[in-house]
Amino acid sequence: MSFSEKILLWYAKNKRELPWRSTSDPYKIWLSEIMLQQTRVAQGIPYYLKFIEHFPTVYELANASEEKILKLWQGLGYYSRARNLHTTAKIVVNDYQGEFPGSYKELIKLKGIGDYTASAIASICFNEAQPVVDGNVYRVLARYFGVDLPINSTAGIKYFKKLAHEVMHVAQIRDYNQGIMEFGAIQCAPKKPYCLHCPINESCVALQKGRTSELPIKINKTKIRKRYFNYIVVKDQNKKALLQQRKAKGIWQNLYEFPLIETESSTGLDSIIKILKKESLYQNITKVEEYQSKEIIHKLSHQHLYTKFWIVSLNTELSSGVSISELNAYPVPVLIADFIKTFKF
Ligand code: ADE
Repeated sequence: MSFSEKILLWYAKNKRELPWRSTSDPYKIWLSEIMLQQTRVAQGIPYYLKFIEHFPTVYELANASEEKILKLWQGLGYYSRARNLHTTAKIVVNDYQGEFPGSYKELIKLKGIGDYTASAIASICFNEAQPVVDGNVYRVLARYFGVDLPINSTAGIKYFKKLAHEVMHVAQIRDYNQGIMEFGAIQCAPKKPYCLHCPINESCVALQKGRTSELPIKINKTKIRKRYFNYIVVKDQNKKALLQQRKAKGIWQNLYEFPLIETESSTGLDSIIKILKKESLYQNITKVEEYQSKEIIHKLSHQHLYTKFWIVSLNTELSSGVSISELNAYPVPVLIADFIKTFKF
């Protein structure tokens, strides 16, 4: 039996029932695949269901406000994906009469749809023989065929795509693509693959050479940047707080947050009071308190945010304050959402 036939057989026995597995509507497949690039299947399901409920077709998504989309996306991370999702939906509605194009070649022309997503939609919805290559597929191929090329190098990307083409199951591409991803997620797991009961363990190069923990190889390109965030939680007499929208490009564009003072290193109460005074940021401050003496370290893919919250009480009224009870309606980073959940205003 060939590699792809074994994958198909494994999939037939082990496939999970997932909400998007019973449809070949390109809108739904597109949505699920964009989400699954962010997160594991189990965590993606509630987001998918929420989106389908609020936006049953591409039209509702295209016509929605960016704020609503960001709110529903809250917690998934990489918020630029949510904005791209919106952009793509508008293009599909305006330029394609609400119909996703029916081939890989046309799909990949759409903004926000790259090789992975175009292959996934073309194969799952239209049975077009295009192999998907996501993190799971890289792992399965690298281990099974013993490939040493880094999966994030130009040569590696090209090599794995070609290999994926050579080994795919053309006639049953829809199940094969989903099968190899599922196999990577469940059987050939990153940390503890279940090699003992694996249906392809007899011919797996990595297993024979004792290299499963080494493969796939990824080169470290980015240094993690440390940033020091001080959120100033300004609250007034009327239980209102200041919230502002983050306009700058970069992380969290268009999400809301408390006023932020970014510093070069970790700061203490005295320095924060000094900065607040120097910049005369707020009038009638009665108290400045540290919320937690230990920094909260929020880890993103390329940066670690060492975060403190400072509670600044005013004995006046904020003219543009947001009621504490309304804070939850805004799309905010999870870091801020967690604070709102636990802090007793
Ligand atoms: N991961 C991303 N997309 C997937 C799919 N369609 N099936 C299984 N795992 C996936």
